[in-house]
Order: sequence, then C-alpha cells, then structure tokens
Amino acid sequence: MDFTPIRMKPVYVPPGGPPQHIAPSQEIYALMGEENIFKMCEDFYRKLEGSELRPMFPPDMVEASKKQAMFIVGLVGGPPLFAQAFGPPMMRKRHIPFEIDEAARQIWLTCFTETLKNAVEDYHFPAEHLDGFIEFLIGFSAWMVNTDTGCPGSGQDTGAS
Ligand code: HEM
Repeated sequence: MDFTPIRMKPVYVPPGGPPQHIAPSQEIYALMGEENIFKMCEDFYRKLEGSELRPMFPPDMVEASKKQAMFIVGLVGGPPLFAQAFGPPMMRKRHIPFEIDEAARQIWLTCFTETLKNAVEDYHFPAEHLDGFIEFLIGFSAWMVNTDTGCPGSGQDTGAS
C-alpha cells in the first residue's frame, strides 16, 4: 500500500531562505559516539510519537528514528551515513510532502529540546556544544516550514540563521 501523503495546501517558502552559518560543531561525533546519537534520536522519536505530529510519521518510529540518526551522525562530524544510504539529503525537498507549518515546527522543536534536557548525562553530549546544536535545530527547522497557516510569525525564522 502507498502511504505517500497528498499535499492539499500550496508550498510556502520561508522569506529568510536557507539557513546560513549554523552547522553544529564537527567535534560532537567523536566525543559522543554513534550509539549515543542513535539512542538520542530514538528517544526523540518516542516523544514525537506521543505528540500531535504522530499521524505524519510512519508506523514504526524506531525505524524512522534511525534515518534521523544517520543524518545527524553526518551533520556532527561522523561518516555521511544518510547520504550513503539514501542519496543527497536535500532535507527541505524531502519534507515537502508533509504539511509543516510553524505550529508543527514548534512541536518538533519542543520534542527535541525535551530530549536534550539531560543530554550530557543521557547521551554523553559534550556540554560545550549543546547550545550550538540547539541553535542549529532552531535555524534549520525554520527552513523545513513549507505551509503557511496564516498565524502570526508563521514560517519566520528565529534569527538563529
Ligand atoms: C520543522 C519540523 C519538522 C517536522 C514536522 C518534520 C517531520 C518529518 C516527517 C513527517 C518525516 C517523514 C518521516 C518518515 O517517513 O520517515 C521526516 C523525515 C525526516 N526528517 Fe524531519 N521534520 C522536521 C524538521 C526536521 C529537521 C530540522 C531535520 C534535521 C535536523 C529533520 C530531519 C529528518 C530526516 C533525516 C528525515 C528522514 C528523511 C527521509 O525519509 O529520507 N527534520 N521529518
């Protein structure tokens, strides 16, 4: 069966354009290790599973979390696992089938920042790079917004990029 979502609303392009200068530290991977990154993403997807965004995601959230983890591994200085398995990341393009508005972005970010609350203890996340990583998520998630719901602040980035 084909679960590909069908877009009902026009594609919105955030006025700030793609995020600039916000790559997280490339030291994170070596300090944290792959296993911890996968664990962090699994916990993040468990939070998404309990959120209003649940219907957007596939039935198996553990499997889905692995794609996220593969992307993050490459992003923080590890091997480009996502690109090796699935081709060029082109993240905004990959998100276009899903109607992501500012409200969805805020839920996504809340799930991630809650996951990161005890990241130093839970995942050996290097404390000195945590703020920079969160700044990255704030800026990059603004670029995933593709649906304008007309609410104030919709789709605007936070100035992090
Ligand atoms: C702005 C809020 C966001 C929402 C609501 C959202 C939602 C989604 C959804 C519904 C999927 C498809 C899940 C699947 O079929 O496996 C997905 C895939 C993915 N997302 Fe996001 N996302 C957001 C932001 C981000 C950001 C900021 C990143 C990167 C840091 C990211 C990385 C990924 C990756 C790597 C995938 C897998 C892509 C693929 O299937 O090829 N997402 N996201």
